[in-house]
Amino acid sequence: MQTIRENALQEINEATTLEQLQQVRNTYLSKKGLVSSLMKQMKDLSNEEKPLFGQKVNELKNELEEAYQIKQAHLQQEALNQRLEKERIDITLPATPLKVGQLHPLMMVWRALEDIFREMGYNIVEGNDVDTDFYNFERANIPQDHPARDMQDTFYIDMEHLLRTHTTAIQTRALEMYAPHLPIKVVCPGKVYRKDDDDATHSHQFMQMEGLVVGMNITLADLKGTLELLVRSMFGQERVIRFRPSYFQFTEPSVEVDVSCHVCDGKGCSVCKQTGWIEILGAGMVHPAVLEMAGYESQEGLSGFAFGVGIERVAMLKYGVSDIRQFYTNDQRFLEQFKRFE
Ligand code: PHE
Repeated sequence: MQTIRENALQEINEATTLEQLQQVRNTYLSKKGLVSSLMKQMKDLSNEEKPLFGQKVNELKNELEEAYQIKQAHLQQEALNQRLEKERIDITLPATPLKVGQLHPLMMVWRALEDIFREMGYNIVEGNDVDTDFYNFERANIPQDHPARDMQDTFYIDMEHLLRTHTTAIQTRALEMYAPHLPIKVVCPGKVYRKDDDDATHSHQFMQMEGLVVGMNITLADLKGTLELLVRSMFGQERVIRFRPSYFQFTEPSVEVDVSCHVCDGKGCSVCKQTGWIEILGAGMVHPAVLEMAGYESQEGLSGFAFGVGIERVAMLKYGVSDIRQFYTNDQRFLEQFKRFE
């Protein structure tokens, strides 16, 4: 018994891996192991000797089991330490730089415009890029065969459907949706399409944001105040605007809006072609026929204004981009420069 004890303790002590330790356990402590085999010698002992012998064998078994457990815990800890050491990550190594994206400059302007109007209590209404001739033209007071249709060369899908040529198509739908309720205060952003030849200032696809306010006693002065706020948020608090007479079928009177040049502060430079002014958007008082067609009965004092601003145009002026096609060719070297404006 003593020999078994010494050998077992020594082997447990010398085991350097969990596998080796398991081997030792099998040799001594398993059912067919050396300690169990001691029990078989019981039958050769006298009745007086048997209890003492049994007790000794049990004590040996417990002692070896405990030594095994302690050693096992020790080896497990050691194995874990080794693994942690092996899998250790050197966090001081320089990381591979991640490319972080950013909003497209047009999206930045789109959202900035939306924010300006949301703050003033406007709702945002969007529509479908494919719309009907009816909402794009007829409801905007541009009847079939009217020469004004030539101003906007249109992509037709069939006789009835087209790619909207202006966000005024959303305006006419918004009017119909709200009629006969007042007041209406909405902005309608979206893509528009025209059969233009692409060059530095034209694109067959671009974006507009339409503004529409209808209520009692809305005046041109309200329009002017609203647009002044718009250009000051986008181009600086010193900007002023001026109205020039213009013509649109869906507004009367109609105006072309100029903003004082933000590059030279109105003194004259290449951006404003030495005039001090930059043409920025079209606007006017909503034509009574447009209101009527949408379902508003004409009444004393009922009036509204509308404007349509080009998102690319604002972005080009704001960021000094001279070719509209840059917004659509997705050259990373171009796009990455807008990170600092986010
Ligand atoms: N729809 C006009 C255009 O695309 C812009 C506009 C909108 C003008 C609303 C007046 C009022 O040119």
